[in-house]
Amino acid sequence: MQRWLEDQARVRRRRGIVRQAAVRTGAAGPAPSGSAPPEASRPTARPVLDLASNDYLGLSTDPRLKAAAIGAIDRYGTGARASRVVTGTLPVHAELEAELCRLTGQPAALAFSSGYAANLGVLTALGGPGTLLLSDEHSHASLIDAARLSRSPVEVFPHGDLAALRTMLAARTQPRAVVVVESIYSVLGDAADLAETARLCAEHDALLVVDEAHGIGVAGGGRGAVHAAGLAGADHVVLTATLSKALGAQGGAVLGSGALRGHLVNTARSFIFDTGLAPASAAAAAEACRIIAAEPQLAGRVLSNAAVLALGCGVPQAAGAVQSVPGGDPERAASIAAELEAAGVLVGCFRPPSVPDGISRLRLTARADFTAEETSRAAELVTARLVAAGLAPAVQAAQAVR
Ligand SMILES: Cc1ncc(COP(=O)(O)O)c(C=O)c1O
Repeated sequence: MQRWLEDQARVRRRRGIVRQAAVRTGAAGPAPSGSAPPEASRPTARPVLDLASNDYLGLSTDPRLKAAAIGAIDRYGTGARASRVVTGTLPVHAELEAELCRLTGQPAALAFSSGYAANLGVLTALGGPGTLLLSDEHSHASLIDAARLSRSPVEVFPHGDLAALRTMLAARTQPRAVVVVESIYSVLGDAADLAETARLCAEHDALLVVDEAHGIGVAGGGRGAVHAAGLAGADHVVLTATLSKALGAQGGAVLGSGALRGHLVNTARSFIFDTGLAPASAAAAAEACRIIAAEPQLAGRVLSNAAVLALGCGVPQAAGAVQSVPGGDPERAASIAAELEAAGVLVGCFRPPSVPDGISRLRLTARADFTAEETSRAAELVTARLVAAGLAPAVQAAQAVR
C-alpha cells in the first residue's frame, strides 16, 4: 500500500495536478484572542483580495451572523448531539428551514449537514431501479456521486443540450424520471435554461432537481435562479442548496413540497444516519436568509463586480459570481495562481479532474463586499499575469478595443 501511495503521488506530480489543503495567505482570518496561532498558519499582514472563496456576499464575517451563531451556541451548545430523527432536531433547525422557504418561495425545506449530503440525500431517496436519472454532464461531483449511490439507471446529457435531453426523456422506459442540473455551474459559471428545462420535465412527467449552490444569494435578487424563473413552488421542481457559499455558514438543504420533505426524513440516508446540522451554522444561515431577503442590493453588487471582473479579464461575463478564465496547462494555471497569491490576490485554480471539460481554469468570484475599484485592481493583476504567460489573446483584443 505504501508503495502504491508513493506511485500515485508521483503520477499527480508528473501531471501537475497536486492539490494542497494548506492554509493560504490571508485566508485564515483573524487570530483567536488570547492565543497565538502556530507559525505556519499565521496570516500575513499583506491585504488580500480573496477571489477564490465562495463567500459571495461577504457574510461569513458579518457581525450579525457571528452574533446569531454565538447566540445559538449559548442556547443549544456546540453540537446537535444526535441525528435529526432521534433527538438532534432543535428549534433553530425549524427556524432555518422556515427562513429558507421564505427566501426561495418553496413550501418546505429540510436542512442537512452539508450541500454534499443534501444532494446525496435527495437523489438516493428519489432514485432506484424505477427512476431514470438524467444528469447534465457538467454536474457537480456531489450530484455524480449521488447518482451512482442511488442505484438508478443514469444517463448523462451533453452540457445544456435540451434537444438531447428531450430525446432521452421521450425514450425512457422507467416509470419515473429525474433531471439534474445546476442553476449556475460551479466552475464555468454559466447558467442552465431553467424555464425551458422545467417545461420539458413537465411535458415528460419528470421531476427537475436544481442545485442552487451558486444561485441562491446571487441570482434573482438573492432569492435564486428558480425563483427568478417563476418556478418557486412548482410541484415538479426541487431545489438543493448549500449554506456554505453566499449564505456564509455551513450546511445544506433540500427544498420542495411537504410530501418530498416527509419522504426525505424517512428515507434519505445522509439525513437519517448523520448528526444534525450544528446549531451555530443553522442560526448563522437563518440570519443570512433574512439579510439576503431584506438587502437585494447585495446580489446586485455581486453582479456589477462580476461585470468589472469579466471586462477586466477579457472574458464574457458569466451568469453569477463565478467568472472562469482559461489558464493553459495545469502547471501554468497553478503557477499563475501562485504568482497572484504572492501579489495579494487569491484565485481558484481548477485543473483536471475538477474541470468538466478538461481545460484548466482560473476561477474568480465576484463579491458584494469588494468595491468596484478593488475588483478592477484584481482584474488588472490577473490580466497582467495572463498576458505575461502568453495566455491572453482575448484579453489583449479587449484591451486594444478600449
Ligand atoms: C454545485 C455544488 N453543489 C454542491 C456543493 C457541496 O456543498 P457543500 O460544500 O455545502 O457540501 C458544492 C460545493 O462545492 C457545489 O459547488
